Amino acid sequence: MFHLGWFLSYYPQGWNEGHSDRGNYFPNPDAYVDFARALERAGFDYMMIEDGSFIPDAFGSSMEYSLSTTFAAPKHDPMALVPLLAQATEHIGIIATMTTTFYPPFLAARLMTTLDHLSHGRVGFNLVTSHNDRTAQNYGLDKQYPHDERYAIATDWAKAVTALLTSWDDDAVLDDVEAGVYADHTKIHQVDYEGTYFSTRGPLNAPPGPQRLPVICQAGGSPVGREFASTYADTIVAPSGTVEWMTEYRKDIRARVAAHGRNPDDVKVMFLTDFIIGDTHDDALELQRRKQAEAESDVSKTLARMSFASGIDFAAFDLDQPVPAFETNAARTTTDAFFKGREHLTLREIATQLPPSLTIVGSPATAADQMEAVMEEVGGDGFLIGSSVTPRAVADFAGDLAPELRRRGLIRDGYADTTFKNNLRAF
Ligand SMILES: Cc1cc2nc3c(=O)[nH]c(=O)nc-3n(C[C@H](O)[C@H](O)[C@H](O)COP(=O)(O)O)c2cc1C
Repeated sequence: MFHLGWFLSYYPQGWNEGHSDRGNYFPNPDAYVDFARALERAGFDYMMIEDGSFIPDAFGSSMEYSLSTTFAAPKHDPMALVPLLAQATEHIGIIATMTTTFYPPFLAARLMTTLDHLSHGRVGFNLVTSHNDRTAQNYGLDKQYPHDERYAIATDWAKAVTALLTSWDDDAVLDDVEAGVYADHTKIHQVDYEGTYFSTRGPLNAPPGPQRLPVICQAGGSPVGREFASTYADTIVAPSGTVEWMTEYRKDIRARVAAHGRNPDDVKVMFLTDFIIGDTHDDALELQRRKQAEAESDVSKTLARMSFASGIDFAAFDLDQPVPAFETNAARTTTDAFFKGREHLTLREIATQLPPSLTIVGSPATAADQMEAVMEEVGGDGFLIGSSVTPRAVADFAGDLAPELRRRGLIRDGYADTTFKNNLRAF
């Protein structure tokens, strides 16, 4: 069996993809509620809402591309969506993204605990370090911290937050009406955490939620990122790459997790994968051909993604020449994925001949065959589906593919436990 997650963006995804009720999805809360319910019916482990705090303006040195095409903007705060989705569902895990660089640990721990209570133990947090100078400027800095220092800050942050989340003993809340005592103050402890970047006195002024330490999600790609993820995460999301790369990545993560004295089976590695689903296998192949032709005729979308990751304006270079050598302090691992070993290619070739990455293409039946084969080879733990939230995508996955996977016994058939963390660890 393997796990399923959905990588969701809280921005007007698919607004121009031609479905009949377009416009319904952003910022209409009902659409997200319907979507969460559909994923739960389909047996998804979680939905993960990505986030960032800036409007991209590296590509073309302007916000124009981003705002005219809804590329990563506008974006609402995913935290606000969590209780709404939790209230409308019963089992699915809900992960929202939080930046360790800019969220003060005390506010973070308090919000995590509150949402854990409100969701009855079904909340998780995707911890990111925020790679962009614009983000840093929105929070009052001139530029972002160096890449590896961001993870040193994240580690300090995680220690402070963990100390706060464990500042109440399990039996601190008595709720004893007869004795007139709600909580035993001797079981609630001052934290006095003093780190390099953060300090906090504690204790947290909120009792622990059902999970106490909510699910942590992370996407470390670099050596320091992988170390951070292996120390703290319950689920790690990664790009898919080739099946060989996925196998190696998961092996590396599991070894790091074990080196930290944790059980590698407690950390689920989920690969962000493209899916092209058709009514028949040939329909899906035709759809893939059309998408590829579109991408080749207009490279701006890919260039904008490269600019987003690196902070470099790729609109400023000649498309038919190799790009002069550059360095970036932004998302280095993601930028490397485009360029490393391919520096001799022209910019157009870089943008149209993307490095091999797993794409599942087929009918529900042939897509299920491919998913089963990949998971057998990689060893686990599941797929993170990155399609836009459109009625078509919901129908493809919740309506067609998930039932096929369930018939084959490849995905869960119900949720045995009440908390997200325990369900994630169930297999
Ligand atoms: C599936 C996936 C989801 C991610 N989601 C976010 C996000 O919501 N916000 C963000 O700032 N970064 C996000 N990232 C970027 C990662 O946090 C991280 O910076 C990236 O994987 C590179 O790893 P590194 O920081 O170790 O170099 C995501 C990456 C992946 C692969």
